[in-house]
Amino acid sequence: MKKISIQDAITQGSGEVALHGWVFRERGSNKLKFIVLRDSTTIIQCIFDRQKFENSWDEIDHLQVEASLEIRGELRKDERAPTGYEVQVNSYQVIGKSENFPIVKDQSTEFLADNRHLWLRSRRMTAILKIRSTVFGAIHEFFHKQGFYEYQSPIFQAVQCEGGSDLFSVDYFEKKNEVFLSQSWQLYAEPAIFSLEKIYTIAPSFRAEPSKTSRHLTEYWHAEMELAWCNFKDIQNYGEKLIKHVFKRVLERNKPELAVLERDISKLEPVLKKKFVRMTYTHALKILQEQASLDVEWGKDLRTIEEDKLTALYDVPVICTHYPKKVKAFYMMEDPKNADVVQGCDFLAPEGHGEIIGGSQREHDLEKIKERLRAQGEDPIKYEFYLDTRRYGSVPHGGFGLGVERLIKWICGLDSIKDAIPFPRTMERYKP
Ligand code: 4AD
Repeated sequence: MKKISIQDAITQGSGEVALHGWVFRERGSNKLKFIVLRDSTTIIQCIFDRQKFENSWDEIDHLQVEASLEIRGELRKDERAPTGYEVQVNSYQVIGKSENFPIVKDQSTEFLADNRHLWLRSRRMTAILKIRSTVFGAIHEFFHKQGFYEYQSPIFQAVQCEGGSDLFSVDYFEKKNEVFLSQSWQLYAEPAIFSLEKIYTIAPSFRAEPSKTSRHLTEYWHAEMELAWCNFKDIQNYGEKLIKHVFKRVLERNKPELAVLERDISKLEPVLKKKFVRMTYTHALKILQEQASLDVEWGKDLRTIEEDKLTALYDVPVICTHYPKKVKAFYMMEDPKNADVVQGCDFLAPEGHGEIIGGSQREHDLEKIKERLRAQGEDPIKYEFYLDTRRYGSVPHGGFGLGVERLIKWICGLDSIKDAIPFPRTMERYKP
């Protein structure tokens, strides 16, 4: 008999079923054993009656949490069962034993992190991983529908993109301190817009930031896009449309998982219904002063506390634009009307989830880029391959990068970004 998922069995509603899964909970008496079986879809109560299984009762009686089983039995509705149905088991086979599964109730975050490979089986992590899968799928779907090509940059890179201080250097054969893990695909993506015009990727990025915050990973998944012939508004519009699309898919597909996470869906709905708030950095400082009594000196980057105070005023992301040139990356386009600011934008998520997208129009004046590289202590010679993009048929272009785990953290309402990825890598954790 063909095995079906527990969800499909519940949908079937009655009759004989064959299932396989893992023991989620077990309890029993001398006469009956109740096993709650789980698979990737949901859980169901299964009843073993001793009268039927006198010969194998010892094995059944000793079944423990996380043992894997195949069962066949008669499905019926029972309102007292955890998901409203139960199976009277007629035959079974233990596929993999489990003894003393280390994870029991109320264990410390550290213990769960050390046992991450086992904690992935929890209902909570299963719910997050399903939402994560929807998010990745929705990002691909969005860019494909908008006519973008998927394109890959190398992970071993010879230049910095987002500042030299948080680069991971790799021993590359005999070369030391000359090869780094990618912080962003960008500098190797810009050359490809001259070929494909509209490109995107989802790839890992690496940041050696010494930050022990709930928003920082050393390895995260980065959804990035780059677009030829565009202006700064186009970049912001694509970012807003992308986030709306991802929310739409998650709300269509993952309401049960959001319920497992006890996520208040009314906090997510405004993202679909309302326009994102757009304001310049200078205006943001004014609002911070007037509405949050926070004084930020013009020219200083916004810190977490200021971002949080600003976004607390809205239920949709704030797209903050035109930051001071000196706090932003060398490749961002100087604003034609004010050389002190750049056409760069950060998307700041509500509920204190922080920056989820960073993007910009790209500077296409070769001399300005060289000057800004030198100002950052970089030797433009190392960037010759990149500077060639400005020498041969340069066009207005731009792009952005979205931190996928930051987006998942916000969607799921997680306290820490570490739960948004299967095996988090942070300053302090690189195992298991
Ligand atoms: O703002 P960032 O540094 O921008 C770039 O890397 C650009 N080169 C992207 C581009 O234009 N193609 O990073 C983009 C996003 C941030 O908004 C944030 O969401 C995420 O990457 N991010 C991190 N996520 C998790 N952990 C970290 N340490 C992160 N650093 C950045």
